[in-house]
Amino acid sequence: MNTIAATWKGTGRLVYVAAVFAGLGGLLFGYDTGVISGAQLFLKNDFTLSVFTLEVIVSGVLVGAAFGALIGGRLADLFGRRALLIVTAAIFATGAIVCAAASSTTILIIGRLIVGLGIGLSSGAVPVYISEVSPPAARGWTVSLFQLSITVGILLAYVVDYAFAAIQGWRWMFGLAVVPAAVFALGMLFLPESPRWLARKGHRDAARAVLARIRGSADVEDEMLEIERSIAQAKERGRLSDLLQPSLRSALVVGIGLAVFQQVTGINTVIYYAPLIIQSAGISSASGAILATAGIGIVNVLMTIVSMWLIDRVGRRPLLLTGIAGMVVTLVMLGLAFHMSIQAGWLSSVAVICMMLYVASFAISLGPIFWLLISEIYPLTVRSSAEGLSATFNWVSNLVVSLTFLTLLQAIGPSWTFWLYGLLAIGAWVFSYYLAPETKGRTLEEIEEFWRKNRHDE
Ligand code: BGC
Repeated sequence: MNTIAATWKGTGRLVYVAAVFAGLGGLLFGYDTGVISGAQLFLKNDFTLSVFTLEVIVSGVLVGAAFGALIGGRLADLFGRRALLIVTAAIFATGAIVCAAASSTTILIIGRLIVGLGIGLSSGAVPVYISEVSPPAARGWTVSLFQLSITVGILLAYVVDYAFAAIQGWRWMFGLAVVPAAVFALGMLFLPESPRWLARKGHRDAARAVLARIRGSADVEDEMLEIERSIAQAKERGRLSDLLQPSLRSALVVGIGLAVFQQVTGINTVIYYAPLIIQSAGISSASGAILATAGIGIVNVLMTIVSMWLIDRVGRRPLLLTGIAGMVVTLVMLGLAFHMSIQAGWLSSVAVICMMLYVASFAISLGPIFWLLISEIYPLTVRSSAEGLSATFNWVSNLVVSLTFLTLLQAIGPSWTFWLYGLLAIGAWVFSYYLAPETKGRTLEEIEEFWRKNRHDE
């Protein structure tokens, strides 16, 4: 990784330490959304569960996350990214303990809502925090550490579910999240606040000191000047309503559009329901389904690493457009495989391969690049609020897709369900082609300037 090596040499290492620890918020996000797939199988041993109660337990996290992202962004703009992330870690730990110790379904639902709140808060603040401490040349892959952590978290959840399945240990599955939550809290206690947020709040000396510390050099005048210039130019007062200003509207459309497209192209039908899809494709043994699911989790992690390697070299747009095109093709093929599998048994393996290629395409494009772009494209004064709003749209879309997937399967069958996601992926490609900006190598202040000038030129 030349880019990584070069930036490692040229800047302080603290940036990478900060990105890794803040990324633990992503690991908990992935773990807590993934863990339920295994845990839900054993809840019925301890509780009497209606289908509806189970649905609420499963999707409670998504509701909590939508709310958390909405308030989290705003709180991070008001009180600072670091302060919010410390509180978030405590919320993650509390949610894990409540779920693990739940003596009734009501308490379990409360626990899942608390965990969701943590996920939402972290999705509203982690990408922005990493983006604001990173140097432009490395920002692509450092922010993508968030997505990498999500995918590792999902994989970890599959592994933990598998490991505790024999003792039906659902309490362990939920409770183990306390460990990364504690490391996350400890890490954030020792890390500095975002220098950009400090400057915006008028703490210029503190901002300069943090910049010098994270860049590993006292020569940070240029970067400080650029930050101060952009603060002076900002017309926003830091309220959510500022987002409706003409200069910010295009950025808002891009962020919200990508948020919705990231979900309605169906990724979580595969992430949350992989064993079910695999079994309905004809691989009936449970161990075969679990193995294929683990394979999908591994592909997701590996291809995210490939994306991180490419993102600061080839740029955001080429990766985004190539990956979404791959999603379109694999969704069409997945639909075809289901369509024909009635006649030919071997097509079930084709379906599994299509799912892996689909996840691979997502992992190099909409997965990391959505979280990256929404941490880059908004001006400092409203950055976290706007990022949080985009994340909220992402969670609400996630909820809609998760709640409708099984109904769609029954109503129109798997082929048409995947073709529908394929059609929406074509929409995502066209949207990205016309609207997604290239942010590679630019400073956050140059990106702000781009939107303002863009508006000016109209
Ligand atoms: C999405 C999640 C998804 C994950 C899969 C993230 O970027 O926001 O909804 O589960 O990627 O890797």
